[in-house]
Amino acid sequence: MKVSIIGGGGLVGSCAAFALQAGRIVREIALLDVNADLCAGQALDVLHGTSSMADQIVSSGGYELIPSSDCICITAGLRRKPDESRLDLINRNVDLFQNILGEVAKAGVKPSATILVVSNPVDVLTYLAADRLDLPISQVLGLGTQLDTIRFRSLIAAKLKAPPTQVNALILGEHGDSMVPIWSSAAIGGLPLEKLPGWSPNLASEIFTRTKGSGAEVIKLKGGAGFAVGVAIADVIHAMALDSHKILPVSSVQTGCYGIRNVALSVPTTVACAGVVATHEIELWPKEVQALKTSGNTLRQTIDTVAKRVGLTKLK
Ligand code: 2OP
Repeated sequence: MKVSIIGGGGLVGSCAAFALQAGRIVREIALLDVNADLCAGQALDVLHGTSSMADQIVSSGGYELIPSSDCICITAGLRRKPDESRLDLINRNVDLFQNILGEVAKAGVKPSATILVVSNPVDVLTYLAADRLDLPISQVLGLGTQLDTIRFRSLIAAKLKAPPTQVNALILGEHGDSMVPIWSSAAIGGLPLEKLPGWSPNLASEIFTRTKGSGAEVIKLKGGAGFAVGVAIADVIHAMALDSHKILPVSSVQTGCYGIRNVALSVPTTVACAGVVATHEIELWPKEVQALKTSGNTLRQTIDTVAKRVGLTKLK
């Protein structure tokens, strides 16, 4: 699989490139960025490690790299300030994102290509990409709450001194302020969280609050997230590269899961080489379903604002 990362010169894009190198699964990693020198430097730095990692091709360049790409990952965009919500970014990022979509369309994409949107606000931009690109909506995904989910699991593990890889806990909905913690199925090695010594509603609230604020916390400390975002991107791309049919909380245009439509947000989604294969209404508490619908309504309001400004073509 050839993966092209638009925004590959930046922190998120270069960390995604390194995560794909460390994963040793994709065949080719191509970086594109408006800052050509920075992009070439990131690609060269990754290439220097190939002889110790895997037989992968690493390159950098312009949109001529797009037509032969199997997956196009879009990480380019302005980063938010610590006190700015991801949805606030929309006015600054939507024009830039539209230009990128235009360049991708002009370059041409494989009919089987998948698009993975990472730029924020990721759910709104995923909806826009699905609307603008001449691909089935199932081939357009957003990183969504995969990043929030791995943060959630990692923070639960750190707090409980448990093995992080054995924590099963989900975040669904918006990759943003209305994200929804799914406590109903949270467990460690099959043990429900509430059965664990020391677990309490207060601890649950503390961990979720920190998860939701993780993006801003990292921005405040180091200017922006990179490593965990790169890992989350690799999780999704590897599921496509291996055609693994993994069920991941990624964003896509909803067509009725939990009664939600005309918005992109994260629900449990089977991800394979063709992109979104299916979405799943896993059993949730009624209040979790309600919070998911609220998240959808919040995102729809921003989509309506964007649609008023730039219009929609395929979607409504
Ligand atoms: C984050 O939460 C960049 O939105 C991403 O760090």
